[in-house]
Amino acid sequence: EELTIIRKFEHIEHCLKRNVQAHVSNGFEDVHLVHMSLPEIDKGEIDMSVEFLGRKFDYPIFIAGMTGGTRGSQLAGKINKTLAKAAQELNIPMGVGSQRAMIRNPETWESYYVRDVAPDVFLVGNLGAPQFAETMPDRYGIEEALKAVETIQADALAIHLNPLQESVQPEGDTQYRGVLKALAELKAEFPYPLIAKETGAGVSKEVAVRLESIGIDAIDVGGLGGTSWSAVEYYRAKDEMGRNLALKFWDWGIKTAISVAEVRYATDLPIIATGGMRDGITMAKALAMGATFAGVALPLLKPAVKGDVEGVIKVLRRYIEEIRNAMFLVGARNVEELRRVPLVITGFTREWLEQRIDLPAYLRRR
Ligand code: FNR
Repeated sequence: EELTIIRKFEHIEHCLKRNVQAHVSNGFEDVHLVHMSLPEIDKGEIDMSVEFLGRKFDYPIFIAGMTGGTRGSQLAGKINKTLAKAAQELNIPMGVGSQRAMIRNPETWESYYVRDVAPDVFLVGNLGAPQFAETMPDRYGIEEALKAVETIQADALAIHLNPLQESVQPEGDTQYRGVLKALAELKAEFPYPLIAKETGAGVSKEVAVRLESIGIDAIDVGGLGGTSWSAVEYYRAKDEMGRNLALKFWDWGIKTAISVAEVRYATDLPIIATGGMRDGITMAKALAMGATFAGVALPLLKPAVKGDVEGVIKVLRRYIEEIRNAMFLVGARNVEELRRVPLVITGFTREWLEQRIDLPAYLRRR
């Protein structure tokens, strides 16, 4: 049990002190918004609000889950409360990190609890898919899922899909057999929305269709091009074999831009575009491609560990102003209109998508 907690700290430390990002882009450099010289709107009238799972948010940005699992007011608790204050201020949703530590050590619940500082925030709990696998000893079911949500008064639960990370770490949970069936059973009884969430390797159209077929409510594509969990595991590896494996898979996965297109093409599910989202122009592109939110993790970690709420808000406000400016320059009054502006897709992303989806059909239906 102590191990899970130590692991969390190691992850945060590596994320703060080393380069843990993919060496490749998230693909949005291949996606182009077309400048409009006659926007025919006033910049001041732009409405950036979005609806998601029955709630309305002021801005299309999602604070992706990162941490939890320490006692009381220690590091993880401080990070979550800092992020939550920013999310409350801006009326945007946020997730917490994996609650596996809390299921094992219930006394760590407070490190995930933010309701005292963020009474209205749309909060998403987090458990890992392998914990629901058929061959997992003490596998999770509805009881653990309810505990995750209700202990912290969350509004929804994210199930993270992380086979890449698990496969390159020595103590990884590489059982995935029966996960889809378990999630289908969970969904059938569970009274809260369920979000399937990748963690840096992207969701393909095939996986998205399966997730939609069991009633999953939304997909966070968690694509390639931002934080790389193989990179994190590379630094944690204990021997040369481990380091080699993690290095080889550092840039494995489906780029975020590509994953958004595949999931939007193949399903009607709301999409959170997470993975290497580092500026508002990129975020505007993701929204234009059909995402409801751009999700951000790593850039918010630095101010959050310092308890710097204003610092977190400042980063987010910069993104918001960049999104707003991009919306003005393509003449989109709101996010719905942004989904209908012309998009040009070039290069690697185009080549990929031409082999995988009906690109013109996707561009019409996004
Ligand atoms: C994460 N992420 C993550 N995801 C998850 O589902 N459960 C978790 O416990 C964590 N933990 C975590 C810790 C830290 C320090 C980071 C930076 C990230 C993944 C995160 O939610 C997101 O999907 C990826 O980090 C990609 O976004 P960025 O970092 O490229 O903006």
